Amino acid sequence: MTTRDLLVRGGRVLQGDTLIEADVLVQDGLITAIGEVEAPDGVAVEDAAGLLVLPGIIDPHVHFGWPGAADDFGAGSRAAVAGGVTTFIEFAVQFPGERLDEAVEAWKRMGEQSVCDFALHAIVSDARPETLEAMGRVVDGGVTSFKMFMTSQHSGGLGVDDGTLYAIMQRVAELGGLSMAHCENDEVIGHLAGRLIESGVVTAEGHSAARPPLVEAEAIARAVRLADAAGSDFYIPHLSSGDGLQAALVDTGREVAVIAETCPQFLALTADVYARPDGAHYVMSPPIKAAEDQAELWEGLVDGRVSTVGSDHCPYPRALKDENARSDFRRIPNGVPGVETLLPVLYTLGVRSGRFGLGDLARIASLNPARIFGLDDRKGSIAVGKHGDLVLFDPGRRFGTAPSALNSRIDYSIYEDVDLWGMPVATVARGRVVAREQRVVDDGHRGEFLARTPGVDLAPFDRRTVVAG
Ligand code: URP
Ligand code: ZN
Repeated sequence: MTTRDLLVRGGRVLQGDTLIEADVLVQDGLITAIGEVEAPDGVAVEDAAGLLVLPGIIDPHVHFGWPGAADDFGAGSRAAVAGGVTTFIEFAVQFPGERLDEAVEAWKRMGEQSVCDFALHAIVSDARPETLEAMGRVVDGGVTSFKMFMTSQHSGGLGVDDGTLYAIMQRVAELGGLSMAHCENDEVIGHLAGRLIESGVVTAEGHSAARPPLVEAEAIARAVRLADAAGSDFYIPHLSSGDGLQAALVDTGREVAVIAETCPQFLALTADVYARPDGAHYVMSPPIKAAEDQAELWEGLVDGRVSTVGSDHCPYPRALKDENARSDFRRIPNGVPGVETLLPVLYTLGVRSGRFGLGDLARIASLNPARIFGLDDRKGSIAVGKHGDLVLFDPGRRFGTAPSALNSRIDYSIYEDVDLWGMPVATVARGRVVAREQRVVDDGHRGEFLARTPGVDLAPFDRRTVVAG
């Protein structure tokens, strides 16, 4: 008997699109039975009567170790489990001049603080021969997705030029991995931002005005062409605009899969937030766009053209956000909180509002990221043999959005004025109850690094049906 044994009794368990009345037995962290199950001797029993039992949520996009950001792996993962997220994928950063494989190993060690399982993407910041060679060792070490920044300004100098982007994508293709890029046109942003500052627009509204949808759509179109020429499947993180979606899915006769992720903040908020007195708190890149963009992103999620939702959790303390908020929007650090509110945002605005069903929520927020990132042998659904990652969920209760209700170290909330529904009454990670009702109850639990292997078939996630061209 281990402490990773648990019987979840009498819940309504999500299987595909269907809820079935069943018990779920987890032994040594793995699901061993679903149905009417007798509790083996000594196994703890968790009463799920009246609750939905959902697969643990997978957030494919967080920054818990980003310099200056409020949450490290410990705090970020506690916020994650309090919101029903049982697995996250963090970005290991190769800062300029660093050895890529050493950087990735250092981020794995930072992950030892996590209270739930995690995987890593690698951010590559150059295409030196030694870096391209190190990418092979990184893949051997279980990290198979590589992100490049097309912007330098907001990323602290991590941006790469198109030649570097292309060279890295070619190497990713050789290795059977997945390329990703932060797609915004740095030069156009610089030009527009300079003009805005000159004309006296210095607050967060300038951040939004300097990044119209064109900035994202142009970079996506360029990156998709480069990925196709390089032969690399391509994942677009934090897609924010309707134009960006059109650019992502245009059918150029390409052979690679192009997959889109959006973020909860793009689905829940519109660019009006930048006119608020605390508009700086919403500054991230790409910025939150107009209501029409939001509508297109929802449509894309509903019809499958957008495959995943990642929080892009990267919050900075209020003092840092406010420091230059009234003098120069270019100096407001970029990033917002989100891992803790991902599930309630999708439940409230997706399921409760009637846009899609619970099965769709589980596909978007658990199964799809598991499949795309090569974790579906372990994660992504409630099935015998998979990890015992579960959310015992009460859809009829409100989710607290005030900073005092949230576990992130951040001292403000971007959803304080939004009604969110759905309470993760208990979050189970590998058979252990790690959080109850927005509070972490098992701080000692240490998550494991999830090694992944290359060669995932991504064709089912490519939906190039928007425009022929
Ligand atoms: O503004 C953002 N998104 N900050 C986090 C880093 C990134 O660009 O993903
Ligand atoms: Zn990010």
